[in-house]
Amino acid sequence: MTLILGLESSCDDSAAALVTGDRRILAQAVVGQNSAHQPYGGVVPEIAARAHVEVLPGLIAQVLADAGVSPHQLDAVAATAGPGLIGGVMVGLLAGKGLALAAGKPLLAVNHLEGHALSPRLTDPDLRFPYLLLLASGGHCQLLEVRGVGDYRRLATTIDDAAGEAFDKAAKLLGLPYPGGPAIEALARDGDPTAVPLPRPLVGSPEPHFSFAGLKSAVQRAVAAGTHAPADVAASFQQAVVDCLLDRTRRALAASDAPALVVAGGVAANGAIRAALQQLAAEHGRAFSSPPGWLCTDNAAMIAWAGAERFAAGLVDPLDAPARARWPLDPAAEAVRGAGVKA
Ligand code: KG4
Ligand code: ZN
Repeated sequence: MTLILGLESSCDDSAAALVTGDRRILAQAVVGQNSAHQPYGGVVPEIAARAHVEVLPGLIAQVLADAGVSPHQLDAVAATAGPGLIGGVMVGLLAGKGLALAAGKPLLAVNHLEGHALSPRLTDPDLRFPYLLLLASGGHCQLLEVRGVGDYRRLATTIDDAAGEAFDKAAKLLGLPYPGGPAIEALARDGDPTAVPLPRPLVGSPEPHFSFAGLKSAVQRAVAAGTHAPADVAASFQQAVVDCLLDRTRRALAASDAPALVVAGGVAANGAIRAALQQLAAEHGRAFSSPPGWLCTDNAAMIAWAGAERFAAGLVDPLDAPARARWPLDPAAEAVRGAGVKA
């Protein structure tokens, strides 16, 4: 059975994983850098890159030891080659190249977004192409038709902030720690989602895209007013994001006959968002799939799995494969102003 080592280093998580072509995760390890970035309220690229240099080799050794595998037993080495913070991407990609070279194995230069896009197929063997994907992370908010490995059509993207970025900015305004998504979700449980009137940017718009910047500004005003309980602001903010995601996804469902709706990326770890999208899929007679929470946020199992899918399709890469800060899944999609830069 195909055996792939995957490496992830595009943002603030260093990760390594061993995954087989028949969907077994033999070992995986993730080390986040939250405490290193927390004083700055966001990820500092150079701090992230330096941490990957320190942490990644140990994680590779650890997963190989945990699974009792030597590099010579691998079929290929998969590493995130972009998009993301370029320093970190270069660290992980070069580690992958070094291993591939030393073990005489092919390299798989994986698009981090393809890692998120194919991640539901690692845990859901029934999920077949095509499917409609809502990919919501710290750097992206896109609706994509996933037609096959390496075959994506972008239906919508954000014209300003990504959904996860909006969670992170709202959390910062509320004095909550980074990353903001889990902190807001926890605080929102004690709040009233109807307490604070907040906008729903682009809801009902004939254009397909997302927008979250105006929502952040409205949260800023609500916090400054000082009249609302933080839990009410958190719950109202989360509800506004849910409404925006639902409206835009509903529009895309009407334009796509894909039999399944999938949500992936860090924001898909949010229980309220998953539940709302699951109901939307049911209303439209579509199957619903979403990876477990640990597979939604950045990890290396999804990179190894995307590598396994690409390896099975014969899509290996040369050792001079570039590291790319920007790398759209759908090269034909038009650039939209302000779309996020982080993966
Ligand atoms: O996919 P990911 O781990 O990294 C990127 O590729 O960006 O996504 C991270 C983003 C962060 O903005 C974080 O706040 C958000 O996902 N996130 C969440 C939750 N868990 C993580 N957003 C909402 N609710 C959550 N439970
Ligand atoms: Zn990601």
